[in-house]
Amino acid sequence: MRPNLLPLLALAAPGSAIVRFHCSQLTVERLDPLVNPGMIPSTHVHQIVGGDAFNATMDPSRDLPAESSCTTCQFAEDFSNYWTAVMYFKARNGTYKRVKQLGNNQFEKANGGLTIYYMQDAIYDQEQKSKVTAFKPGFRMFVGDINARTIEEAARFRQLTYVCMDTWTSRSPETMAFPTRKCPEGIMTSIRFPTCWDGKNLDSPDHMAHMSYPESGTFESGGPCPSTHPVRMAQVFYEVVWNTKEFAKEEWPEDGSSPFVWSFGDATGYATHGDYVFGWKDDALQRILDAPCWFNTNCHKESKAKIQSIEEMNKCATKRVVDEDIDGWLDELPGGWHADHGPTRSSA
Ligand SMILES: *[C@@H]1O[C@H](CO)[C@@H](O)[C@H](O)[C@H]1NC(C)=O
Ligand SMILES: *[C@@H]1O[C@H](CO)[C@@H](O)[C@H](O)[C@H]1NC(C)=O
Repeated sequence: MRPNLLPLLALAAPGSAIVRFHCSQLTVERLDPLVNPGMIPSTHVHQIVGGDAFNATMDPSRDLPAESSCTTCQFAEDFSNYWTAVMYFKARNGTYKRVKQLGNNQFEKANGGLTIYYMQDAIYDQEQKSKVTAFKPGFRMFVGDINARTIEEAARFRQLTYVCMDTWTSRSPETMAFPTRKCPEGIMTSIRFPTCWDGKNLDSPDHMAHMSYPESGTFESGGPCPSTHPVRMAQVFYEVVWNTKEFAKEEWPEDGSSPFVWSFGDATGYATHGDYVFGWKDDALQRILDAPCWFNTNCHKESKAKIQSIEEMNKCATKRVVDEDIDGWLDELPGGWHADHGPTRSSA
């Protein structure tokens, strides 16, 4: 796998262009308008952040900034929706309990959710030298493979990883499977989307084919986009901190394996995935991407973007539409899934 590059962020001087902000939880339930549009409930539980126009049918023609009344994101003009599957803990007696997210480093007061980066430069650049393009209304994408259960299957995706957090700011080493030791501060999942766009399609049947990884290397190493997908976009990157530390070691499997499982049954970790539906107001994202700025410290000033406080972000939420228990000690995962390590899994 790729060497971890994130610790270098700490060395980069202010002036590097990296946008990082948090979005609190909007809802946690079985909805998935990208992969299971219109399905209530969808196949498995997700945790979703962003604009409150989110629902089971996110038709690309919808005007998310106009339809939303609030957003859980720090940038008040970001009505996009970002989501991932949800992690569960499997106790020795075979029951499952949802693992909640924590606000990330610098966003401790946030109600769960996830942290988002829109990376403009390869992070080795010390100034904003390159231009990246913002997404267009109606744009959406997916990354990952919910059926992956081996490292070979997961390796198709270059940068979907786990960090076993020894400290609150740990960002390495990154693994592609669930960590197998108890992580003192929790588990971070990192999801980096492909960054090269075909320039034409806002979506594709698998929600992935309209995007590509760089021809070689990564976004961070400045890899060139392939001719089929020539438009260099910002790298969308999620960090999710899972509060795994609340589960006692005495409840962990005796064979030393990981007790964690994704909401669709994957107990290997190889099937981690993320979903993105663009919904920024007007050209707010492009303005931010064009501003030489550093994290959430001055991006809003340089770009004149509106931001809101964590308290305001935490107030925005949608009413759950799927009425089921997702938070008790459950005999099976919502939707009827059970922990599987593949490859003998049954298809639920
Ligand atoms: C989602 O919201 C749109 C716009 O308000 C509406 O037309 C659609 O019926 C809603 N879908 C569901 C499943 O509620
Ligand atoms: C299973 O184990 C969990 C964790 O110890 C406990 O809270 C729960 O009550 C147990 N459930 C049953 C049915 O024994």
